[in-house]
Parts: sequence; structure tokens; C-alpha cells
Amino acid sequence: MTIRTISTPGFNDQKPGTSGLRKRVKVFQQPHYLENFVQSVFDTVQVPAGATIVLGGDGRFYNREAIQVILKMAAANGVGRVLVGQAGILSTPAESCVIRKYQAFGGMVLSASHNPGGPEGDFGIKFNIQNGGPAPEKITEAIFERAKQLREYRILEAADIELDQLGTYALGDMQVEVIDAVRDYADLMEEIFDFAAIKALFAAGFRMKFDAMHAVTGPYAREIFIRRLGAPADSIMNANPLPDFGGGHPDPNLTYAHELVEILYGAQAPEFGAASDGDGDRNMILGKHFFVTPSDSLAIIAANATCIRGYRDGIAGVARSMPTSGAVDRVAKALNIPCFETPTGWKFFGNLMDAGKVTLCGEESFGTSSSHVREKDGLWAVLCWLNILAVKRLSVEQIVMAHWREFGRNVYSRLDYEDLPVSQANQLMQHVTEQFAHLPGQQLGSYRVHACDNFSYTDSIDGSVSRNQGLRILFEDGSRIVIRLSGTGTEGATLRIYLEAYEPDTSRHALDAQELLKELIQIALNLTQLQAITGRDKPTVIT
Ligand code: G1P
Ligand code: ZN
Repeated sequence: MTIRTISTPGFNDQKPGTSGLRKRVKVFQQPHYLENFVQSVFDTVQVPAGATIVLGGDGRFYNREAIQVILKMAAANGVGRVLVGQAGILSTPAESCVIRKYQAFGGMVLSASHNPGGPEGDFGIKFNIQNGGPAPEKITEAIFERAKQLREYRILEAADIELDQLGTYALGDMQVEVIDAVRDYADLMEEIFDFAAIKALFAAGFRMKFDAMHAVTGPYAREIFIRRLGAPADSIMNANPLPDFGGGHPDPNLTYAHELVEILYGAQAPEFGAASDGDGDRNMILGKHFFVTPSDSLAIIAANATCIRGYRDGIAGVARSMPTSGAVDRVAKALNIPCFETPTGWKFFGNLMDAGKVTLCGEESFGTSSSHVREKDGLWAVLCWLNILAVKRLSVEQIVMAHWREFGRNVYSRLDYEDLPVSQANQLMQHVTEQFAHLPGQQLGSYRVHACDNFSYTDSIDGSVSRNQGLRILFEDGSRIVIRLSGTGTEGATLRIYLEAYEPDTSRHALDAQELLKELIQIALNLTQLQAITGRDKPTVIT
């Protein structure tokens, strides 16, 4: 077999965003585009000769083709062994688990997460390092620089590898091992959670519905919930992964997971509902006629962590992304453990977890996880809830209400305006920033502005600084408005407005978040001049 060296023009647009390089499938299908990025990764990370890497994706359209290309390029770049998920599929948390379990040098994750798939949809690729987590910014920046300058890449001329059968195959001097990653992942879950207690819960007639949204978690959910925990077969829905996610938008929120939401708010609603996204790292938690805000879910898991075997000795600390509500901060204070505030994106949690400072972390964007892997983990979060429910034997709503009674409620909402022209989004951000000088001290309705800034973060472990991480308008009573532009989109701009107000009054806890945040939302709309600048009169998604 021969290694071919092929010319590439270099690409100027391969800058990884919040979570890897994401583009339309059509962009990835351009000649040399995928190869240019993959070679830039190999050149940047310098896989030691003979080392092992892990490879898998969420099964979306173009996954198989990309896996074959990357395998041949890995062989041509001196990689010793590649562990590939069967059929080329690995959920993002499962890939993180496999990298750690087999002490691989790193891995490539092929996914555009919750973005739609199919020939007209999105594709993505990201490099994860030895700890199983996304590469930090200094590596992603170096990959981007390399991608611009690259003029040739190496690829082995060889036939495609059989990816559907478990087994070991040779590709030039490299070994390809097709692995059953569902088993490795399910085994890890069984170590962390009390499967016997959850099994007893199901045996007592507890009903749940998990929506895999035709994405990667279907086979994992079948193995864990049905086979290992004995839940009835109809406890999972949309459990067959499809390359276009059945034409859906595999994002587990109230808008895109409406099929599940209708069931949980319907007459025959089960006690518990959950959904996960395209690559299995996000989660949405629902009770009967009840939605758990992701920020609250993180706080509640932290407050009840000792119910769970894997955390029974307590947690070292917690971390949340800046826009995530301060609910978990209150739990940390009560537990007398540190709480870190990081920029948006999972890559900022890795250092804290590696240093043993943080056990649990989460984001308002339906991401929660712990140091068992270095990615957010959808099914892990669902199992946390099942384990807590199995121990407490209360309803989801009762658990949340009891939490609010104890800690107060951080009322929270996020408004997304998708697909805006980039120029309008920039104009709006600029307009808000220009008001920063005179806002502090101003009374806006019942809120007085305390301070405004553009969030900047210094990593306490490696000293690296990340600036421009979102505009914050902080009020004197602790309420906040945060405004930032998405870093995961592939076209146009998505504006996110995050709103948070603290409500200590128990008699107001049952009220709807939109109702409680009405005034703050209006203040945000006035400050941003959103309607005048964008012409939009309502958000695309409300969480
Ligand atoms: C979004 C979320 C962020 C999450 C990321 C990857 O990024 O807001 O919390 O880490 O997806 O799942 P954004 O599009 O806001 O940059
Ligand atoms: Zn995802």
C-alpha cells in the first residue's frame, strides 16, 4: 500500500468554534476540505509514533465517508492504532469514556451536535485530548493557523475498512479495532449509579419516556434502560439512529423535542421524561407536566449527589458556564465547596476537573456532567435523576419545589434569535456595549444596574485568558441580563439573551418563569433595541 501526498490549497475558514469545526455538509464535501483540517490536526498535536487514537461520530450523514478518510490519513501519519466505534458511531460522552479507559492519546469526534443533519444539514469535527475532553483553545488556535498554511496532506491508498463487524483490521502498518462502545459506556454508568435501586423503581411501576430523537443515544438507551434496568420497552422512543435524524432538529429543548413534551404534558403522562441530542451530550429533564431548567438540574444534582454511589463521599467543587444561573452557587455555598464560573463551552471545565477541583459541572444549554468523563453527558444526567428519584421516591416537581424552598429560586430563561444577518447581530452587540459607560447606577424599572462588562476569564490552572465571552448587565439585587453570540452556528448569527432573577419568596415559586421575568425581558429588549435592529418581534426558541 502506498502513501500518497496530495496538494491542498489551504483553507482560511477552518477556525474551530465553541465546540470544534462545524460547517454545512456541502462545505465538508469540497475537495480536500476535510483532509486539510485532519492533516492540520495531525501536524498540530503530533501523535507519537505507534500511539492509539479513538474515532467515532454521531452517525449523521457523511459520518461513514469521513471515518474512512480519517482512518487512511491516520495510517499515513504514523498512528499505531485507532479504536473506532462500531459502524463508525460513538456518542460524544462514550468517546470521552473510551479515550480515558484505553489511555488513548486523544480522539476525533465527528458531530455537529444538535444541528440538523442530512445532505443539506451540518457536519462537524473536533479533536479531544488525552484526558478525554475537547482540546483547549491554544491547540484549536494552532490547528486553525496550520489549516490556512497547509499545502499538502498524506493519505494511504487502500480499500475501505469494514466498520460494521467488531474485530481488528490492518490498514498499512496501523491497526484498526472496531469496538462495542455501548458496552464500555454502560459499564461505566453501572459503576457510578445504583442500578439495583433504579431497577426496583421500575419494578414498582414507575414510568418514564426517553426520546433519543433518532440520534446517537438510541442504542445506549436500549442497553441501559431496557436491558440493564428492566424498564418496559416503550420507555424509549425514536431510538433508531438515522443519518438525518428523521428530518428533525436533534436538540432536546421545549421547542425541538415537542413530541416528548406533548407526552409529558398529556393526560397519560409518565412520571419522568428525558431527551438527548444528536451526539448524546445534552439532556432535557421533564417531570409530569413539569420542566426542569438545566441550571436547576445541575444545582439539584449537586445538592443530592451523595444519594448517588459514585459521589457518596461528596463532591470536590462545582463549575458552571457564565450564562448558567447561580442556583448551583447557592448549593456550593451551603456545602462549603468551591464554585467556578467559566466561559461558555465544555473545554473550559477540563483543567478544573483534571486538577481535582471540580466534580460536577454544567451549562444552561442542557449540558451537565461530572469528572467521570471530560464531556457533558446526557444519559449520565438522566441516570442522576433516576437514581435520586429511586432514593427519594418523590415526584420530579416535588424535588424541585423542595429545592427552591431550601435555596430560593433562580428564575431563569434564555431567548434565542436564530439566523440573523451577521451585520445586525454585530450592530446590536455594539449598541449594548456603547451603553456600558453610563448604565451603572441607573434605575431601570424595579432594577438598578450595578455593573456591566464583557466577561473575561483567566484559567486558574494554566493562566490562559479568554476575552469577549459575553456582555453582562448585573443588577444590584443579583439579577442579570447576559447577551452573547453563538459560536456553534454554521450560517448567519444566533443571538442569545439570558435572563436571571432571584426569587426567595416561596409563594411565588410556582409561577411561570416567563411571567416572573417579564420586566427583565422588556428591559433587555429596550437595551438591545432588538426589534428596531433586527425586525424580530419574537425569539426562535425560548427556554
Ligand atoms: C452552545 C451552548 C454552549 C455549549 C455549546 C456546545 O454554544 O450555548 O453552552 O457548550 O453549544 O454544545 P453557543 O452556540 O452558544 O456558542
Ligand atoms: Zn451535543
